[in-house]
Amino acid sequence: MLLFCSYILSFMISTYKESFLYQLMLLRSMKIIVCGKGGSGKSTVAALMAKMMAERGHKVLVVDTDESNYGLHRHLGLELPPDLLKFFDGKKGLFQRMRDDKTLFPSGWSIDEIPVDYLSQKDGISLLAVGKIHEFGEGCACPMGSLARQLLESLTLGPGEIVIVDTEAGIEHLGRGVEKGSDIILVVLDPSYESIALSKKIVEMGEGLGKPVYLFLNKADREVEEAMRKELDSARLVGTLPMDSGLFQAGLKGEEIKEVPEGLERLAGILGGK
Ligand SMILES: Nc1ncnc2c1ncn2[C@@H]1O[C@H](COP(=O)(O)OP(=O)(O)O)[C@@H](O)[C@H]1O
Ligand SMILES: [Mg+2]
Repeated sequence: MLLFCSYILSFMISTYKESFLYQLMLLRSMKIIVCGKGGSGKSTVAALMAKMMAERGHKVLVVDTDESNYGLHRHLGLELPPDLLKFFDGKKGLFQRMRDDKTLFPSGWSIDEIPVDYLSQKDGISLLAVGKIHEFGEGCACPMGSLARQLLESLTLGPGEIVIVDTEAGIEHLGRGVEKGSDIILVVLDPSYESIALSKKIVEMGEGLGKPVYLFLNKADREVEEAMRKELDSARLVGTLPMDSGLFQAGLKGEEIKEVPEGLERLAGILGGK
């Protein structure tokens, strides 16, 4: 009798696992903000996550909020799209709207509602660039910070949709509240004291904001990983990537990253579970 009941139970569980409802549950939506020290590998890891999740069938929006970096679109194999800032008539227009106390996205945007002229798209990945510094002496990046914050807060996601936000180095963007609209914060660390110290600061800030903070060790082999684990809250670690010659070459030549190396599987689970 017991055997029969357990057989029926396991049959019910396996049927449920194949059901649409269960698949839908797995298709969580997620906004993830990628931070860390300059050169730690934020843009590389952001591009790898985007590729990995798109390959798994997710709709991915990558938001480039780093106004002085020109590498991310190349890693994704995409053209750099026009600045979203232009949609708001540039910095002046944006300032004017903010002075008039208008919210920039009054009715919110879904990914499909983002004006397509401001996206670069390929293989399930859309890239949106908030605004780049195109000329010397363009001044303060604060309006870009406000734009990024409001955009993230007003983006509404459907099942399985993932937003990955690549940021500039350091924690200035956190000071501007860009992370408020995100679900999780991922800190990319390279093997350096500076990375470890910065990650501790971001963990503290994340705790204050009630946002889960995860850590990703980049450019770290086994030995380095062991050493870094001792310095960090290892429960937050979601992956490690060693120095990889393919990634190094792609970074050197500004080329598309074609293959996602191993080491990101746990992160995939946290992002979407598919
Ligand atoms: N795991 C890795 N192996 C080899 N090179 C890497 C790796 N991760 C990043 N890089 C290289 O390090 C440099 C900095 O990476 P990048 O992603 O631009 O950093 P960030 O966005 O944090 O400034 C780039 O040249 C990139 O190609
Ligand atoms: Mg970068």
